[in-house]
Amino acid sequence: MKIFLDTANIDEIRRFNDMGLLDGITTNPSLLFREGQDPDSVMRQITSMIDGDVSLEVVSTKYEEMVQEGLNLYRTGDNVVVKVPMTPDGLHACQTLSSRNIPVNVTLIFSANQAVLAAKSGAKYVSPFIGRLDDIGHDGMDLIRTILEIFRHYDFDTQVLVASVRHPLHVVEAARLGAHVVTLPPNVLDKMIKHPLTDIGLDSFLSDWRLLQESQK
Ligand code: G3P
Repeated sequence: MKIFLDTANIDEIRRFNDMGLLDGITTNPSLLFREGQDPDSVMRQITSMIDGDVSLEVVSTKYEEMVQEGLNLYRTGDNVVVKVPMTPDGLHACQTLSSRNIPVNVTLIFSANQAVLAAKSGAKYVSPFIGRLDDIGHDGMDLIRTILEIFRHYDFDTQVLVASVRHPLHVVEAARLGAHVVTLPPNVLDKMIKHPLTDIGLDSFLSDWRLLQESQK
């Protein structure tokens, strides 16, 4: 399973990339807004820092403008994946960009039917938002299970990119189901690294080592 970081924060991307953990990045307008910097400059920095796919999202809602914006975003770097929303214009733009060999991530997916239609339009990735489904009392992971089952029946090349991930158990469940990619907020990746028994074990090893050093004086 590939791990993407769901952020536009350069320091967080650098921190996890230095650990060798990142296969790619996903951004969206809200994540760029959170950084409060020139979005074009941030997007350029991200694409140059990362070898893997970097999703950059269009903010146009009309087909022609989406395609033009997608083409402009694609010039930001050779690892850019153009992210479009799951709308009729978004599907049309996905089809046009994909037919020009520009990879597309269709975002804001909340049903299996939407995922199938995005795959039919040529999407490289579909992004179901599982946390937002959980928030309204649905089972986000059940949607991932259903999409993967359908894609396997028909040998779709489209990859399921699990988004809106809220906690480490989401990641384990996505991996058990065989999801292709999870995109994680930095705090979830931090939680995956940590375990209290690791900290207790390390404290104990270091304490014993200090005692050993003192006993040798
Ligand atoms: O890529 C954005 C997606 O992951 C949304 O996450 O936490 O805003 O639902 P969230």
